[in-house]
Order: sequence, then C-alpha cells, then structure tokens
Amino acid sequence: MTKKASIGVTGLAVMGRNLARNLARHGHTVALHNRSGERTRELVERFGSEGEFVPAYSAQEFVDALERPRQIVIMVKAGAPTDAVIEEFAPLLERGDVIVDAGNAHFADTRRREAALRERGLHFVGTGVSGGEEGALHGPSIMPGGSAESYASLGPLLEDIAAKVDGTPCCAHIGPDGAGHFVKMVHNGIEYADMQLIAESFDLLRGALGLEPAQIADVFRTWNTGRLDSYLIEITAEVLAHTDAATGKPFVDVVADAAEQKGTGRWTVQIGLDLGIPISGIAEATFARSLSGHTGLRAATRGLAGPERTPLTGAAAERFADDVEQALYASKVVAYAQGFNQIQAGSAEYDWNIDLGAVASLWRGGCIIRAKFLDDIRAAYEAEPALPTLLTSGDFRKAVEDAQDAWRSVVSTAVRLGIPTPGFSTALAYYDALRADRLPAALVQGQRDYFGAHTYRRVDREGVFHTEWATEARAERPA
Ligand SMILES: NC(=O)c1ccc[n+]([C@@H]2O[C@H](COP(=O)([O-])OP(=O)(O)OC[C@H]3O[C@@H](n4cnc5c(N)ncnc54)[C@H](OP(=O)(O)O)[C@@H]3O)[C@@H](O)[C@H]2O)c1
Repeated sequence: MTKKASIGVTGLAVMGRNLARNLARHGHTVALHNRSGERTRELVERFGSEGEFVPAYSAQEFVDALERPRQIVIMVKAGAPTDAVIEEFAPLLERGDVIVDAGNAHFADTRRREAALRERGLHFVGTGVSGGEEGALHGPSIMPGGSAESYASLGPLLEDIAAKVDGTPCCAHIGPDGAGHFVKMVHNGIEYADMQLIAESFDLLRGALGLEPAQIADVFRTWNTGRLDSYLIEITAEVLAHTDAATGKPFVDVVADAAEQKGTGRWTVQIGLDLGIPISGIAEATFARSLSGHTGLRAATRGLAGPERTPLTGAAAERFADDVEQALYASKVVAYAQGFNQIQAGSAEYDWNIDLGAVASLWRGGCIIRAKFLDDIRAAYEAEPALPTLLTSGDFRKAVEDAQDAWRSVVSTAVRLGIPTPGFSTALAYYDALRADRLPAALVQGQRDYFGAHTYRRVDREGVFHTEWATEARAERPA
C-alpha cells in the first residue's frame, strides 16, 4: 500500500507546484491534485525525483491519500474558485481535518469561510504566502491564521519550508480566523509604498541630477550596503542596470510607464479607511499607480505648464544623492509605521492579539519587503509591544529627526523642479501633522458646526457645544 501523505496540495499552477516541491524536498510526503489532471502529471514527470509525491486524479482519491488529521493546502485563483474548491473537498473530510487557503484571499472572505467550516467541525487556515514563485520553492514568508489547534499540527510543516533568518523560520501563527490574510494584505500595501518611494528616488536622481539609469543603479548598489539593505533596493539596481537587447536603450526607458494596481494594495487602502487609520503612504502609492494607468488623461494634460527643470549644480548636486537616501529612509519609516498601525487596529477590531514583533520578524526573509530594516522593527516592538508608532521608538526617532532637514530639502527640490513625489511628500506631511501642537482640524470642526450643527469640543472645558451661527449674537450653548 502507498505511504499516506502528511499534507496535500490542490491547485498546481506555479505557486502550488513550487510549494508542493518545497514540502517534498523537506522530506514530507505530498499528495497532489489539480482540477485538470495535466498539471499533476507534469509535476510528477518533471520533479518526481525531488521527493515523495502521491498524485491523485479525483477529489476522493486525494482525500484518501492523506493521513489524519488531513491537511489540504488550496492554492488556486482567489475568490469564487477558492469557494468552489472548498465545497468540493469539505463534504469528503472529517471532524478535525484542516483546510489551508494559501492564496491571496480577502481576510473578510477568510473570516466567513472559517466560521462556516468551524460549524462543520473543520479547521480553516487562511494563510498569507509571500515571495512569489521563487519564494514558494526556496522558502517563502508564511503568515498563517486560523485556530491555535490547527497550527499545532500544520505549523511544523510550514516552518520547515519557510525562509530562515538567523535560524528563525519566517513563519508564525498570526492569530485566529482572518489574521494571516489581513497581515499579508498589509504586507502587500507596504510593498506598494516601498516600491513607490524607491521609484520616486530614481525619478529625483534622474530629474534633479541628470543621472543615467546605469549610474543610478550604482547609487542603489551603494545604498544597499547600508541601512536600506533590502531585496527591493537590490532588484531595483538590477532593473536599472539592464539594457534592452532590441534597442540598446536602458530597459527602464522602453517599458510603458503605466503600472497596475489590483487586489491587495487596493484592499489595504479600503480597509485603512474602514478602520480610520491614516495609511497615506500606501494610499498615495496605490493612487500613483492608478494615475500612471490613466494614459488618456495624461495625454490630454501633457502640455500643462511647469517650472524649468534645470539640474542641480555645485554643493546642492554633491549632496543630493545623500539627501535622497535620507528622505527615502525617513519616508520608509513612515510607511511602515502606518502599516504596523493598521495591523494593530485590525488586531484590536477583530480580537486577534497579533504580536507585531513576530510579524516584523517573519517579514525579514522570504517575502518581497524583506530587509535588514525589519530586524530593527522587530527589536522596537519586542522592547515595547504597545509602541504607539515606530516614529517614537528610540533609534527610528533619532534617524528620522536626523533626516528631516535633508527630507525637507528633497521635497522642496522636487516641488521646485516639478518632479512628482507623492510618497515623499505625504510621508513628510504625516510626520509634521503628528508632531504639530495644533492642527487646522479645529477650523474644520467650526465649519462643520456652522453648516451642519455637528457640534464641537473645547480645549478649556468638558462637554459638547454648538454655536448659534445664524443669530447675530452667535451664542454658544452646550449641545
Ligand atoms: N503568483 C504569485 O507570485 C503569487 C504570490 C503569492 C500568492 N499568490 C496566490 O496564490 C494563488 C495561486 O497563484 P498561481 O499564480 O499559482 O495560480 P493562479 O493563476 O492564480 O490559479 C491557477 C490555479 O487555479 C486553479 N483553478 C482556477 N479556477 C479553479 C476552479 N474554479 N476550480 C478549481 N481550480 C481552479 C487552476 O486549475 P487548472 O489548472 O485546472 O486551470 C490552477 O491550478 C492565487 O490565489 C494567488 O493570488 C500568487
């Protein structure tokens, strides 16, 4: 009789196939299934020698191939296909079995599915997986939600195949029901912000200094040896140094400058609004992609007047790359601070009790935003789990305060030369708004009371007040 599999993967496109191979390479026997049998056959033919696979060509065969409690990883297109696959398997499973959705599901769908399957005695584990196809094969960052009980059996397998940093797996139980997919969503939102800030740095170095992409690649390589050391900076240098074979031009100059924003970036912004958390860095990055894609609007407005774009010279030019590094670092701290605050708010709203230090720790490797920087975030939350914002944590506070002059100078240069830097600008505005003694929200409250009797509070007395704006006397009364 064939050995039973300790885990099964259904959905064997690039992600599922690589996760299955990763599990098998770590000595686990993996049952395989896909809607169309071709992908299953192909995996066994091409990679069968990498470990022990049990191919199955029907749902029943797949379920029968698994040890109890059965652990089934679904890696199919998010949305309706995930529901269809759950409905295909759930009736064949028994109490205590575990269904893992490792696709990019919306956390609200995960909450709904988890509640429904719990009623049927099944565990449902919504799991974020980051790192693309290479990560899935060589070690992704894994963010599992679901019950603590399901993590007890599933966790060791996931930790086995996750990326490792200093011997620690980039995988930890995030919290109940949708917590894992929520954290994955914010990860992707932060990824948007980080990429936008890097892209603005490139645009600034080119627009204000007149550097060529290959020269800017060298600047990024240098930055990658310091505090900005990260996967995204590393690949940016590679992309900028790449020459298009067909034209001999820098690759970045032959790529259409219209980016896409879909799925998780948009969800992060929507949920930020729902929770009332100002994630302006992620929002600006999402809008920047959206704006770039409005090619008709951009064509219609191309002739609008702007300033003369004379490149910097002398001492200002000498200093500029270093100033941009500081502005990038400070803006990045703001974007991550906002993202972590969003996780904190989601955790409070849904009672997830998420350990922010553990989240930072498991993002240190395997995922797209992996960076040295995340180790500093981990340390900040370990030292003070209830930190109100990363901006007040010792080392980050000092770094941002030290960077502020350069940050302001870069944003002013951008404004003066007409180089759009929504990411840098919004991060600086957030920093200035947070540290302000008084905000013009006081005036907004006055306006709201004037036109809508929305009432206001006073700085010097308890209570809620309304002013009779329509009367001559404009008398104030408690509301
Ligand atoms: N690609 C990445 O870098 C990445 C990174 C992280 C997470 N993810 C997430 O991982 C998941 C898988 O991604 P992917 O790129 O490998 O594959 P995909 O293109 O998103 O999905 C293809 C897979 O879904 C199956 N499928 C589609 N509709 C189905 C249905 N109604 N019933 C059963 N199976 C169905 C396909 O089966 P057939 O072969 O029969 O068509 C195929 O196995 C997605 O949720 C994705 O968002 C992807």
